[in-house]
Amino acid sequence: MEDHYTNCAKQRPNQRRLQRRQHPRAPPYYNDIVIGAVCCRIDTSENQLRLYIMTLGCLQPYRRLGIGTVMLQHVLRICDKDANFDNVFLHVQINNDGAIRFYEKFGFEIVEEKQNYYKRIEPADAYVLQKSFRVTNNNNQPASEETTSNNTDMMES
Ligand SMILES: CC(C)(COP(=O)(O)OP(=O)(O)OC[C@H]1O[C@@H](n2cnc3c(N)ncnc32)[C@H](O)[C@@H]1OP(=O)(O)O)[C@@H](O)C(=O)NCCC(=O)NCCS
Repeated sequence: MEDHYTNCAKQRPNQRRLQRRQHPRAPPYYNDIVIGAVCCRIDTSENQLRLYIMTLGCLQPYRRLGIGTVMLQHVLRICDKDANFDNVFLHVQINNDGAIRFYEKFGFEIVEEKQNYYKRIEPADAYVLQKSFRVTNNNNQPASEETTSNNTDMMES
């Protein structure tokens, strides 16, 4: 992570006073506790170059403080710098309304519903959330040079 969170003396997380300092590859910390993590891998399914978000999460007491945003912006910045990714995607449980709202805020859309995707949790169905960087035709070939969105604009939203 590019951003390393650290707290100031007597500050509480719900006071939205987490401070950022530059720290390459450091996960978000609060009082020396890792409070969030994100893990991605490159995926070449559907004849596309895709970044798959395997997991992105923040400990419950530290949610709605912008930490998920920092982690997702980090992922999107990678896509922006590489400029070859067609899209970034992930799976989310269909009842995970908070996460769906979170990703939608950054331009992700539900593109598929997968029945019985999860083996050990209920509901077992998942949505595929995706943010596309290129317009593709039905054969997943680039339809034009035009991108569907500008990552930098999105990151500032
Ligand atoms: C989804 C998750 C990562 C969001 O992290 P976060 O640090 O709470 O997110 P942020 O504080 O950056 O939220 C940014 C915006 O997303 C939206 N958002 C985030 N959580 C939301 C929720 N539960 N309900 C509605 N909107 C939500 C809001 O618009 C929020 O802005 P606001 O707080 O100013 O209203 C976090 O809830 C989490 O760890 N969930 C469990 C793991 C998970 O479900 N991961 C998704 C699958 S990979």
